[in-house]
Amino acid sequence: MDDLRDKYLDLIGTAAGEAALEDLRVQALGKKGEISLQMRELGRMSPEERQVMGPKLNALKDEITEALALKKAALADAALNERLAAEWLDVTLPGRLRRMGSLHPVSQVWEECTAIFADMGFAVAEGPQIEEDWYNFDALNIPGHHPARAEMDTFYMHRAEGDNRPPHVLRTHTSPVQIRSLLAQGAPIRIVAPGRVYRADYDQTHTPMFHQIEGLAIDREISMANLKWVLEEFFSAYFGRSVKTRFRASHFPFTEPSAEVDIQCQWKDGTVTVGEGDDWLEVLGSGMVHPKVLTAGGIDPAQWQGFAFGMGIDRIAMLKYGIPDLRAFFESDLRWLRHYGFAALDMPTLHGGLSR
Ligand code: PHE
Repeated sequence: MDDLRDKYLDLIGTAAGEAALEDLRVQALGKKGEISLQMRELGRMSPEERQVMGPKLNALKDEITEALALKKAALADAALNERLAAEWLDVTLPGRLRRMGSLHPVSQVWEECTAIFADMGFAVAEGPQIEEDWYNFDALNIPGHHPARAEMDTFYMHRAEGDNRPPHVLRTHTSPVQIRSLLAQGAPIRIVAPGRVYRADYDQTHTPMFHQIEGLAIDREISMANLKWVLEEFFSAYFGRSVKTRFRASHFPFTEPSAEVDIQCQWKDGTVTVGEGDDWLEVLGSGMVHPKVLTAGGIDPAQWQGFAFGMGIDRIAMLKYGIPDLRAFFESDLRWLRHYGFAALDMPTLHGGLSR
């Protein structure tokens, strides 16, 4: 019996895993296990023999059962230790630095503008950048022969040969959104339409793509006085201080009368400050919407009237944030963007400054 004991304790001691242990248990203590068989023998023994062998066998059974349990626990411990060693993680290592992206000044100012106009009851409207000739020109009272078409340095989209429909253009201004919004919504209407526009022009103050925000307010009695109030309110909110405006008589085919609007500013050491001094900077075109435009938009000029304006977003971004060269806006230089960009979560605060 000591042989049996040594044999199993040995085997258990060197068992490689839980499966091996289970095999050993069956081999020793299973129904047909070596020890079980011996226990069955007890029945055939004399009472004296049984009195000696019974307790011995029972003790052996207990000893082996316990050895199995201990070994099982030891194996589990070892497995856990191995995992802990393998999956070790140094929580004191510094994290990997990820640079936050930043908002382009144009996106920032676009948001600021729409937020300020929204405060005054203007909804945001949009139109396509690839525009039909008719919306960009004809509907805005710029007929085919009109010099404004040439002046605007229009990009034309070529049609397939033999396709004689009028060409599409890259819209030269956001004014076609006036027509689209009127046709879609009718009057009364109060919208702003920010977006990209295109003209074949390139120098320090012109890029072939730039941004405008169009404004349109049509109702029964809207006048130039409303236009002036809205613009002064806008500039004061946008620049965070009161800003004088100057209206200069001008001409656009789609407004009558028309005015170009300048804002008060001061030039000093090559930089410009808005809202003080006695220089003027042109920032937008505007006027009372021409009756022909209202008609093209499907509303009756005898019933409705109102103003429209178109302002350069890039222009007023440069003025507010002191960015000198327009071309740098669209060169995709990350160093420039990190310098002039905005943290994505900074929302504009109206009638106040802006946290950078
Ligand atoms: N569309 C004109 C431009 O791009 C601006 C403008 C808009 C003028 C609306 C009057 C009314 O120059």
